[in-house]
Order: sequence, then C-alpha cells, then structure tokens
Amino acid sequence: MKGALAIMVGAALILLLATLTLVVMPYLQMSAEQVPPDLKPYTETQQRGRQVYIANGCIYCHSQQPRDPGFAPGDRDRGWGRPSVPGDYAYDQPHLLGTMRTGPDLFNVGARLPSIDWQLLHLYNPRAVYQDSIMPSYTFLFRHVDKAEAGDKVVHLQAAFGPESGQIVATDDALALAEYLLALDHTYPAPTLPKADNPKE
Ligand code: HEC
Repeated sequence: MKGALAIMVGAALILLLATLTLVVMPYLQMSAEQVPPDLKPYTETQQRGRQVYIANGCIYCHSQQPRDPGFAPGDRDRGWGRPSVPGDYAYDQPHLLGTMRTGPDLFNVGARLPSIDWQLLHLYNPRAVYQDSIMPSYTFLFRHVDKAEAGDKVVHLQAAFGPESGQIVATDDALALAEYLLALDHTYPAPTLPKADNPKE
C-alpha cells in the first residue's frame, strides 16, 4: 500500500509541474505582452474574409510571420517587414502563422499591395499578373455576368484573360477576402521590440 501512495504523490507532482510549465507560465508570459496601440481589430467584413482565407487553404502556401533578422535576414530583405511580436496577433483567432512559404509572407501584404483592384485581379487569375505564377486561380469566388449592375465590383481583366463576352464581378466572399488582405498591415512600430528592429519613423 505504501508503494501505491508514493506513485500517486509522484503522479500528482508530475501533473503539477506540467501544468505550471505548460499552462501557467505561458499564460503569465502572454499577459505581459502589450497589444500594440496602432493595431486595429478586424471589421465584420474583414473577419468574413479571414474565414474565406481559412476555407480556401491560403495558409498552405502563405505564412504570416516575418522573422527576426538575426535569425532570418532574408525576410526583411524581401520587404516583408519588421519581425512580428506576439501582440500583433491579439485579434487573430485562430492565428494563421503558417509554416509554408510557397508564396510570399502576407503579414504586411496590405501595405505592400494596397489596391483592391490588384487583389481581386490576382485572386481571379494570378497569371494575369505574374505570367509564371503557380498560385491557383480562385475563379469560383467571382461571377460571370452579361452586364454588371450598379453596385457590382467589376474585375478589370486584359482581353487575353477575360471571358469572350460579358463581365467578371466579385462575390461578397471575394470582396471580403480582398478587404482582409488589405487589412494585413503591421507596419506600425511594435512596443515590445528593441528600437533597432522597429521601422524608422
Ligand atoms: C499552391 C500555393 C498557393 C496557394 C494555395 C495560395 N497562394 Fe497566394 N501565392 C502563391 C505564390 C507562388 C505567389 C507568388 C506569385 C504570385 O504573386 O502569383 C503568391 C502570391 C500571393 C499574393 C501576392 C503577394 C506578394 O507579396 O506579391 C497574395 C496577396 C496571395 N498570394 C494571396 C493568396 C490568397 C488570399 C490565397 C487563398 C485564397 C492564396 N494566396 C493561396 C502561392 C499560393
């Protein structure tokens, strides 16, 4: 019986240790993180766009986490922005950090490519922008209509990529996704980063 007690006490201690290191410590560490004052919460449309991003597997080819220059100088040299800090993700649930970079990191794509027309054209057919792009076309997020009606957002396509007749207009999903991409702009200085790593004002 004495042995059983020792096993139970030992198990309880191991559980306690695990809870402290895996739950309590990360919680304390995270609650000390500041939310950058310039970070804006997503609007309803942007949240919807985020869902479209998740549903279409954009994360399988795109990360959202520029890394520290000391660790990966290439990220900054490619113009992907300052290293991200935990506070940047305060409104991201679930986070979309991603691990694959078949395409560029998108953490600051809204600052890099701020035109909604560009984003829609690229989503409709990446080859209409970059001849050799291997990104899939998301044509199913668009409608082919005979004539656009008032309020429709028309995609401006070169003749070679457009339909033979009629026009291509964005669905609400495509518009929301483009709005979400434009909202990906974390170019403000991060309060918890050393000064040298922040963008110059
Ligand atoms: C199979 C991999 C793949 C998937 C899936 C994918 N992309 Fe891409 N993406 C790429 C590649 C490669 C590029 C670079 C060439 C280009 O711009 O088309 C790119 C470029 C981009 C760019 C331009 C970034 C820049 O800095 O030039 C945006 C914006 C983008 N993708 C958004 C998306 C969105 C939104 C989705 C999901 C709806 C998505 N991608 C899905 C591979 C992918």
